Amino acid sequence: MIQQEIKKSVGQPLDRVEGRAKVTGTARYPSEFPLDNLAHAVVVQSTIANGRIRTIDTSAAEAATGVLAILTYRNAPRLHPADNLRGLATPPVPPLQDEHVYYHGQHVALVIAETLEQATFAATLVSIDYEEKEALLSLDDERAQAFGSTDPDDVRGDPDAALATADVRIDSTYTTPTQHHNPMALFATTANWDGKELTLYDTTQGVGNVRAAVAGVLGLELSQVRVIAPYIGGAFGSGLRVWPHVVIAAMATQHIGRPVKLVLAREHMYTAIGYRPQTVQRVALGATREGQIVATIHEALEPTSMVDNYQEGPTQATALMYASPNLRLKDQQKRLNVSVPTWMRGPGEAQGLFALEMAMDELAYALKCDPIALRLRNIPQVHPVSGLPWSSHGLRECYERGAEQFGWERRTLEPRSMRDGKYLVGWGVASSYFPYIRLFAQARVRILSDGDAQVKISSTDLGTGTYTIMTQIAADALGLAPERVHCELGDSSLPDSPASGGSALAASVGSAVHAAATKALTQVLALISDDAASPLQGATSNDVIVSDGRIELKHDPAKGETYAAILQRHNMQQIEALGEAASGDEMKQFGTAVFGAKFVEVRIDPDLGSIQIARVLSVVDAGRILNEKTARSQMIGGAVGGIGMALLEETLMETETGRIVNANLADYVVPVHADIPPIDVLFVGEPDTKLNPIGSKGIGEISLIGMAPAIGNAIYHATGRRVRDLPITMDKLL
Ligand code: MOS
Repeated sequence: MIQQEIKKSVGQPLDRVEGRAKVTGTARYPSEFPLDNLAHAVVVQSTIANGRIRTIDTSAAEAATGVLAILTYRNAPRLHPADNLRGLATPPVPPLQDEHVYYHGQHVALVIAETLEQATFAATLVSIDYEEKEALLSLDDERAQAFGSTDPDDVRGDPDAALATADVRIDSTYTTPTQHHNPMALFATTANWDGKELTLYDTTQGVGNVRAAVAGVLGLELSQVRVIAPYIGGAFGSGLRVWPHVVIAAMATQHIGRPVKLVLAREHMYTAIGYRPQTVQRVALGATREGQIVATIHEALEPTSMVDNYQEGPTQATALMYASPNLRLKDQQKRLNVSVPTWMRGPGEAQGLFALEMAMDELAYALKCDPIALRLRNIPQVHPVSGLPWSSHGLRECYERGAEQFGWERRTLEPRSMRDGKYLVGWGVASSYFPYIRLFAQARVRILSDGDAQVKISSTDLGTGTYTIMTQIAADALGLAPERVHCELGDSSLPDSPASGGSALAASVGSAVHAAATKALTQVLALISDDAASPLQGATSNDVIVSDGRIELKHDPAKGETYAAILQRHNMQQIEALGEAASGDEMKQFGTAVFGAKFVEVRIDPDLGSIQIARVLSVVDAGRILNEKTARSQMIGGAVGGIGMALLEETLMETETGRIVNANLADYVVPVHADIPPIDVLFVGEPDTKLNPIGSKGIGEISLIGMAPAIGNAIYHATGRRVRDLPITMDKLL
């Protein structure tokens, strides 16, 4: 088989191939498909957190101008049970099926009208009388039902005894608040039922998930549902589940027999598309005087909803981050009357490593040891759970090269020992980790008769660069300039490739695109190998390379011909190949993980407690970097998200009612330009071809993970104040 070298375009800082479409407005987002006869829908949400609808009066709303229909549990179609459906992590309670209310902000009705304004007004006329029950709204509530477990894998040795007898120990509790994804674009579903087929233009990270789930609950064949999402205005995990409003939009178009557009308002986004759940975490570490960790205990508690079984998993990273002969992890959930939590950038690890990496810093100070030295001393030689050798383990290189670039040797150990004028200066670090995940993927590659090529996958591009890196991978594998490769994605009618999540896309889908392109090229070679009209007749795959769309002999490049010439001579419109790739034995042979390190400098006004992030260095070993520009951009974006997590973001719930009080972008504070310093990104490591043919490990989640503890540790270094409760706001420093 011919092996084209992956490195000509791959790795280059190619501009986003869809950039022009985005800035000129030709890129269509799910709310922007101009269907004929489009109706507009607005959700009505519950105003209690627990209870039932006693009566629901829609007569005034139905009489309002332009109203076409109102869906409630009384007239909505009965749905099929939603178990074991791809994309629904755990069975949720399907929407509009009965009178029960499980959280404040649950969709209880849908108003459909000729215009958005008419629907919005009529929604205010829906009158609901509730029978309210007392709601469970606090993790402290003893009545809340707990579940979750301690896995036998999560215990090693005797952690309590080892902690009690350790030379040095720390034992602290850390808390992180509810935080929301807040993608810039409002989630939208434009649904069109033509009597036989349902088309959904949907804000989703996974069109295949939406197709399977919606077909399942509506009782349709998969072939009757098509989901289209060429552009998404951010998602960060909130588009990985199939949310109730998507199903409601599908019911609505079937109900009125017209296309329906449902755009969530910003306030709806706080209960309709998930969030990062709050956590309470205890981390205890014991170490020898020399800094060898001998005991690790990490216990976490988070809320989950009444309607599904989402588990966040903040303790998972602790199992493998550092060598510790004695260890116990425990992760528990309590069921509350809250909306459904979900994955949000670095799910589990974002909060879990906040606790662990703050605890590591506390241990370093207890030992009077440099925080980087402590971490390097405890890097496990093999994967601590499986005992397998690492495929690659870049944490040491991240710290060594990061320290050099950041100037770490100039740091003094004592808190409050570095100043700039009146400002207290602090430098902090934290490790980051995210699992290596690789999923089954298909891709189709076509070589066309003009010599251009097409790549087709159903995965989505969240704005992170999927279009561009898939173009680059195919370009290299086919020996074409990237301008001649055209990528189409985000459509369930295209080859089945996974949802864009879990930092898995580059490795999973990139490998499938590579396989498809290699297969297409092999087919071209088969065509000419016994073609008397070809100057390459008789050449084997070992004899040739492809350069700029021209196949030529390695030892005699003058002899060759182009894809276009070959296809035209054979009267072919195209040569097409479907490629597949899946995780092989790599997970059985190796410990697999992605590691990084974050370096942060803060400046704090000692009189006001105001915190300024002065600079950030984000280092990662993610294997091969497929596009230096989009990867860097993604690393910067994640660091910004981490600054928000650390200093600003907190969803506040009224403890009496369960209502979110800051469900808007004025009161839920996200970072703006003035909050963000220069952010440097450093890629280290080598392509990890033990894991997949392109050697890439994924950077989506790890870009954020570790920012919050690095900031917390820098604040401690600056002030001597250990704030274990996010967000770290001025008042907590005064
Ligand atoms: Mo990521 S939380 O899988 O979008």
